[in-house]
Amino acid sequence: MSALLDTAAALPVGAAPSPAGPATQADLDRPGPPEIPLPKHLQVLRFNIRQTEFVFKWRRELGDTFRFNGMVAGRPVITCHPDHVRSLFTAKPELVPTLVSESPLRPIVGPASVLTANGPRHLRQRRLLLPPFHGEAIERYTQMIADVCDREIAQWPIGEPFAVAPRMQSVTLDVIMAGIFGIEGDVPAGTPEHRFRRAIEHLTTMSTTPVAQLGELLNVGKAEPVGFLKQGVRLLDAVTYPIIKARRKLDDLETRTDILSMIMCARTEDGDLLSDEELRDELLTLVLAGFETTANSLSWTLERLVRTPDAYEQLRAAVREGDDAAGHIERALQEGMRARPVIPMIGRRPNVAWRLGDFAVPAGTPITMSILLLHHREDLYPDPFAFRPDRWVGRKPGTYEWIPFGGGTRRCLGAALAMAEQRAVLDAVMRRLDLAADRPEAEHAQHRNVTMIPARGARMIVRSRS
Ligand code: HEM
Repeated sequence: MSALLDTAAALPVGAAPSPAGPATQADLDRPGPPEIPLPKHLQVLRFNIRQTEFVFKWRRELGDTFRFNGMVAGRPVITCHPDHVRSLFTAKPELVPTLVSESPLRPIVGPASVLTANGPRHLRQRRLLLPPFHGEAIERYTQMIADVCDREIAQWPIGEPFAVAPRMQSVTLDVIMAGIFGIEGDVPAGTPEHRFRRAIEHLTTMSTTPVAQLGELLNVGKAEPVGFLKQGVRLLDAVTYPIIKARRKLDDLETRTDILSMIMCARTEDGDLLSDEELRDELLTLVLAGFETTANSLSWTLERLVRTPDAYEQLRAAVREGDDAAGHIERALQEGMRARPVIPMIGRRPNVAWRLGDFAVPAGTPITMSILLLHHREDLYPDPFAFRPDRWVGRKPGTYEWIPFGGGTRRCLGAALAMAEQRAVLDAVMRRLDLAADRPEAEHAQHRNVTMIPARGARMIVRSRS
């Protein structure tokens, strides 16, 4: 290693402190965060068409914290400082309701979902759902995930470009169906579960159309679905309730280990069971939050790997030769999720005034944490635009610096499952296949609902199979 690189590695990594949390009147008397100097309609347009360029540009021009005038009521502040993130993740939950309850997800997953509920209701739903997503519970799925993955990658074409993301979605949908419903292998045709799977696939495909994208905007801040989403929700209801009703009639519900049976038997502190409506909301939450996110996260990591030959060859050699394969896989995934967080921003609407470093905002102002900008801070990740899994050698992801799964009391419930899936798939792909990018240029990010996905579906070529 050159002396220059030695010095670079020795440089301290960390952001300068920036106090944050509930604000005083004195904090509020100072000027607020800088505003993006564009009319609202241009901000909405640019944010929706090119969100990535938009946030990087205004971060460069205005600093860590700036104000944006978009579709969310109340002109949100966008921030990317780890101290600001810490202040929101560690705040009392009742002070920082989630913005998901105002997003287009709200009319789909309903008000009772763990994703959209706030306060005591949120904590109650979370406690009920935690056991089946605990690390040990997830270990039960490891073999099933490997089998699903082997079946899928055996079908990938050799020598012709194809999009990896839809293939990954098929794997993650199988895994979530197996986990939730306890069905392994192909879902039998004609069953309610089969109809459920078909409906999810149909709506996922539909959601990429311009009509659906417009529909998303129309549903911001709505409690009940309107337009395109209304039909989608009707379809989902029609396939979800029959599953719940049939499941309630089973004799062996108490001993079953699938997630649906477990949450059907779970009781609140008051001894209540979840109602059909609550079960419907949680079921859809788990499927919708769980399969596309994991599939696109994996697709992004592969998209980065095939364009970074050193990292790709190193990982492949480690997996094939068994030389700290697990460590290499972990670092590749950490770096993939740093460089391309599938959920690029998450938000809260504190109901008290909030300080963000030199600025403060009044109670009720939405605060958006840009995961993408945080993950590209030069002071936390030197050379942030380079894909370098080895930056993680000897370094643990910081709780407020690496947040692809969010944090605090709303940290992703499915993180252990998502990591188990990603590890198994990356291991199998590196072991069995030799991949190449279909073209040298990086794929652009496309923004869909709350996610950031590879615009061409992470297209690549299988050079050979072994
Ligand atoms: C790589 C894949 C995934 C990523 C990047 C991801 C990311 C996230 C993020 C950032 C949040 C926090 C949202 C916020 O703070 O507002 C979240 C919450 C959540 N995720 Fe995931 N997720 C993934 C996979 C999954 C899976 C597999 C499941 C379940 C099967 C799941 C279920 C949930 C649920 C239920 C919540 C809401 C938790 C709460 O509000 O208490 N996610 N996820």
